[in-house]
Amino acid sequence: MSLLTPVTDDSMPLFSASLISPEVQSQLPEGYTIRPLQRGDYAKGFLDVLRVLTTVGDVTEEQWNQRYEWLTQHNDQYFMITILDSASRVVGTGALIVERKFIHNLGLVGHIEDIAVAKDQQGKKLGLRIIQALDFVAEKVGCYKSILDCSEANEGFYVKCGFRRAGLEMAHYY
Ligand code: ACO
Repeated sequence: MSLLTPVTDDSMPLFSASLISPEVQSQLPEGYTIRPLQRGDYAKGFLDVLRVLTTVGDVTEEQWNQRYEWLTQHNDQYFMITILDSASRVVGTGALIVERKFIHNLGLVGHIEDIAVAKDQQGKKLGLRIIQALDFVAEKVGCYKSILDCSEANEGFYVKCGFRRAGLEMAHYY
């Protein structure tokens, strides 16, 4: 059982806003904002944005709050960000998960996951801004590299974001 006080504030950031790149914020379209995930993003369309990526399922608000609570207890490891449009609707998201290793002198590796931009907002450089924002977090928290898996169809996007092909993904589904 957690001894921490549960989060009830819908607008409290998941992690420190000082980890959000001011430069990325300044490059967004007029009226758009980028910030850490908040519990209240459930009502702002966060899961609908993720649906452009894959199946999400019927996640109830209670289930969301439970997962969000867990994330707040691991917010030195899970950095999830949100882009909102001028009407405060979630239009983009991405996550950085920081892995703590023994190798490379207790090195930290960033794993970039679940990048999604709402269909009607694609092509406005929001995907690029999400990656730049996650790169900023990764560097600030001390990662020596960030890695990700993607489909061939998205390779060009990540190349534009400064990534290069390195290795081969393998998966074992359970
Ligand atoms: N292939 C090649 N180039 C691309 C692609 C692509 N699939 N998508 C975008 N680009 C280019 C753009 O043309 C642009 O190039 P430019 O600088 O020359 O103009 C540059 O990449 C930046 O594009 P953005 O406008 O930032 O891209 P967008 O905001 O549309 O986001 C994204 C791209 C995230 C892939 C979006 O299309 C999306 O949400 N797709 C569905 C979900 C998805 O596939 N997510 C990635 C899964 S992999 C993972 O999560 C680790």
